[in-house]
Amino acid sequence: MNEQFKTDVEEGLSKTVKTIPSKYFYDKVGDALFVKIMHMPEYYLTRAELEIFKDKSNEIIDNLQVEKDIYFQLIELGVGDGLKTKELLTALLSRAYDFDYFPVDISQNALNKLEKSLRIDLPTLGIEKRQGDYFEILASLKNSNHPKIILFLGSNIGNMSDEIAAQFIYELGANLKSNDKLLLGVDLIKDKSIVLPAYNDKRGITAAFNLNLLNRINKELGGNFDIEQFTHQASYSKEEGIARSFLVSLKEQEVYLEALQKTFEFKKGEKLATEISRKYDDKIIGRLIENTGFKIDKKLTDNKDYFANYIFTRS
Ligand code: AVI
Repeated sequence: MNEQFKTDVEEGLSKTVKTIPSKYFYDKVGDALFVKIMHMPEYYLTRAELEIFKDKSNEIIDNLQVEKDIYFQLIELGVGDGLKTKELLTALLSRAYDFDYFPVDISQNALNKLEKSLRIDLPTLGIEKRQGDYFEILASLKNSNHPKIILFLGSNIGNMSDEIAAQFIYELGANLKSNDKLLLGVDLIKDKSIVLPAYNDKRGITAAFNLNLLNRINKELGGNFDIEQFTHQASYSKEEGIARSFLVSLKEQEVYLEALQKTFEFKKGEKLATEISRKYDDKIIGRLIENTGFKIDKKLTDNKDYFANYIFTRS
């Protein structure tokens, strides 16, 4: 059993405002649903960031200021289908840069799949895949004196609170040396009419993604959540720049978790908070990196200004 999952669920369901960390969305079913989300017409994030990589990979490279004849390590934290990165890798290879690509992920399966597709599409690329915790892997790479570029894309940082995100960026910096780079992909603050549907799509894929968390608890912690008695709810405040997802209890009910030997009570209409998806602007980004040892070099956006890739240098 995943002991951390058990502890986090117990802690989260015992709070006055119940909550479960969104990182637990991603079991096998959740991974597959997230792939579907990325292809939804409402989920503009993936398309907008891909557009930046398709149109501006050369501009990204120029702004990363990597030197032609010095070997560097391109380290990607968390791998998806690799489409965006492939654009950048292709441009780097065609300009004959000297580097290896280090995809890092907790899932060996995701790494194997990515490597297989990269070996076909980019046979000359040097791939050094690393499975495990981001910071343990960065620490293990720190001793090599090679310049490093870290990619953290997809607005994955947006699922962290600002406090945790700032701590995360600080720790990235602590594992880098002066002049190393960070390329961070973030969703930008925009109108509710665009953001909200991305988290509340017509076909109910996001709802299934959110509700799968309860299925996971049932499967892994012996829970008896009645999935029919909860509903997905999303909200977005443009003022705050935060989208939130909840599971709302449709009636007064009790849920028993075998692994905890505990019962949790839900009132009718009670909300279980499952995710925040932060949206950013320059001010928020500035605050985020204030004490992290990074400074902003460049911001690249898509045509509609929906999404941004910021380039930071470690001072
Ligand atoms: C992974 N992460 C950036 C997604 C997001 O947009 O916050 C997760 C997601 N949740 C609902 N839809 C997508």
